[in-house]
Amino acid sequence: ASVSLWGGRFAGGPSPELQALSQSTHFDWRLAAYDVAGSRAHARVLHRAGLLTDDELTAMLEALDRLRADVEDGTFLPRLGDEDVHTALERGLLERAGDELGGKLRAGRSRNDQIATQVRMYLRQNARLIAQQVVTVVDELISQAEAAGAAVMPGRTHLQHAQPVLLAHHLLAHAWPLLRDVDRLIDWDVRAARSPYGSGALAGSSLGLDPAAVAAELGFDGPVENSIDGTAARDVVAEFAFVAAMIGVDLSRFSEEVITWNTKEFGFVRLDDAWSTGSSIMPQKKNPDIAELARGKSGRLIGDLTGLLATLKGLPLAYNRDLQEDKEPVFDQVDTLTVLLPAFAGMVRTLTFDTDRMAELAPQGFSLATDVAEWLVRSGVPFRVAHEVAGACVRVCEERDIELWDLSDEDLAAISAHLTPAVREVLTVEGSVASRDGVGGTSPRRVAEQLEAAKERATEF
Ligand code: ARG
Repeated sequence: ASVSLWGGRFAGGPSPELQALSQSTHFDWRLAAYDVAGSRAHARVLHRAGLLTDDELTAMLEALDRLRADVEDGTFLPRLGDEDVHTALERGLLERAGDELGGKLRAGRSRNDQIATQVRMYLRQNARLIAQQVVTVVDELISQAEAAGAAVMPGRTHLQHAQPVLLAHHLLAHAWPLLRDVDRLIDWDVRAARSPYGSGALAGSSLGLDPAAVAAELGFDGPVENSIDGTAARDVVAEFAFVAAMIGVDLSRFSEEVITWNTKEFGFVRLDDAWSTGSSIMPQKKNPDIAELARGKSGRLIGDLTGLLATLKGLPLAYNRDLQEDKEPVFDQVDTLTVLLPAFAGMVRTLTFDTDRMAELAPQGFSLATDVAEWLVRSGVPFRVAHEVAGACVRVCEERDIELWDLSDEDLAAISAHLTPAVREVLTVEGSVASRDGVGGTSPRRVAEQLEAAKERATEF
């Protein structure tokens, strides 16, 4: 028979329709191991408070161990009528410890503090795994940046040619946001590391139980400061959801470039066969599906965050059943990132760049015009004038359909007396990137420095 946690004041069981709406075991069963761990810790504080004898504690822990083993090997499963993971495991405990002993464990706790604690345990563990997977993607970006050496590419703003940059510089510009996402997960954990266990339904317990002992046993830094807050707040869950969505967005930004770079028109990258797909009708096709799925799944990760925030916004204190809806969004995020990140890492690892093509395009589109202006500034011309002069060079080139370096000495002199033939030293991509030598700039020396810094950060985690 199924177990009811509130039989006393009810004339009968819930309607089948309510049961169908209410049941959450199809998604919260993944918390079963954390529920059993919480029960073990709770049994110990009941014992310390004199509410379980030595023998009862031993028997309770033994029953919980058997329950855990049966959950692990799948011999114990939730069934229809078990409202949620807690209810199902209560039934499992009663079946193993007997009604009399098993019935003692519920004293001083509520599903409200249990679920709030278990969600945190689950997310903390998965945040560590996700952080490792993100670092793996970063490692692949770093390896590609290292392999790229001094290769150049067109740097863009507004998707237009802007200034030449090192390919390594560009790749590392995708590594840093991901490293910050890992930082965010680590910083988030400081707030997630407080245990709501002992908050009871909302007001705490009258039974002399020790929330700090439970917190320590479950790997938390300590108990929550406020039992109402502990059972009602989900900002910790929402903050996790934000970081997960941000990781999705950061992968998506790179994905968009991989997809574009992989077109015939760009021709900057080639995808490895094992990390791309074909078409069922067009024999020639090789599609960047991993990048597209990353871009698509980032929408889903954002939706999970948005849905969760909408669920939370109108809730009065303390626990409301709406909070049952906090789990599926973050479970979906964990599942999504867990399959996405390893595939993404493999795609990055096996990308090959057509650096000749990138180098050929790097100076086109008048991307050296800023170099002309800055060269003039270095010889004492005010930037306002320098900007005008460089702009005039571009106009002349556009009219004649030539590039900046095609201007003759006479052309240059006709545009401005300041433009001596020496300006040609910055009219090469190599000269351009070498001149951007401030910290964080794209000169080979600074990028090499940056690469070392990124490596060091990535190995800190
Ligand atoms: N399954 C619920 C949740 O996920 C926990 C149970 C609390 N239910 C209640 N009636 N107080 O939030």
